[in-house]
Amino acid sequence: MFRLESISKTFSPGTPRQLTVLDNVNLEIEKGEFVILLGSNGAGKSTLLRIISGDIKPDSGRVLLNGVELTGLSPHERADYIYLINQLREKNLVSILTVLEAFALAMSRNKSFIHLINRRDWEKHVKTLLASLKQGLENHVNDQIWSLSGGEHQIITILIAAEMIRNSDRADSILLLDEHLAHLDPNSSKTVMALTSELVKQYALTTLMVTHHIQVASQYGDRVLVLKDGAIKYDVKNKNGEGKPLQHLSDIIS
Ligand SMILES: Nc1ncnc2c1ncn2[C@@H]1O[C@H](COP(=O)(O)OP(=O)(O)O)[C@@H](O)[C@H]1O
Ligand SMILES: [Mg+2]
Repeated sequence: MFRLESISKTFSPGTPRQLTVLDNVNLEIEKGEFVILLGSNGAGKSTLLRIISGDIKPDSGRVLLNGVELTGLSPHERADYIYLINQLREKNLVSILTVLEAFALAMSRNKSFIHLINRRDWEKHVKTLLASLKQGLENHVNDQIWSLSGGEHQIITILIAAEMIRNSDRADSILLLDEHLAHLDPNSSKTVMALTSELVKQYALTTLMVTHHIQVASQYGDRVLVLKDGAIKYDVKNKNGEGKPLQHLSDIIS
């Protein structure tokens, strides 16, 4: 169980630019739940994700995963629990690495894993993982990250995070996706979203994803949240892919 307890954040306090972005936010996410967070520009979605990842300190409140308080951990320790994927690809994977090297670098965090296999087995392993996505990515293991399309890049980032979570002893880690579809054209956005959903289910990833697209939220989210005026104003279960239209949310979001 992932839990946010009374999270508040005000930027530039005591100045004319003072802005309360989060005001006593409480949230619980079940293991394996796919939660999609909507909200207008500037609603505080990225701030919330960056508080969870530890990049921003909340003014008050706690972030807990299975009772472990993450708020006090170092960034390095936190990286075992939290995987944040950004809309800007430059923030996700190192561009000069090859796909194979990016996997190896990520997995090298788990020392017991990396020493178990030799290079040829490792390449075969990564190719098998990529082939399962059915996008022909297994033919690009030796290409550098920068040469991939935006969509290929994002989906490989998620696959690496999923593998890291599966192979770590922290099976209760959480995946955060901050508008990872934002810079993609409509076709790759669709493909990446479908693959995101497949990976979330296949790896049973506890996931909190931010998007602008109400349609995407209603189609894929187990649960849909709306962040507005510093609080979670709407929280609906959307289990079994009912895909209930959530168009009425557009008033709250805009
Ligand atoms: N480090 C910061 N200092 C001051 N204001 C910030 C900072 N980060 C974000 N903000 C402001 O907080 C508000 C929420 O930002 P953000 O969380 O990025 O919104 P969203 O991701 O929902 O679009 C915005 O008005 C933004 O300008
Ligand atoms: Mg944002």
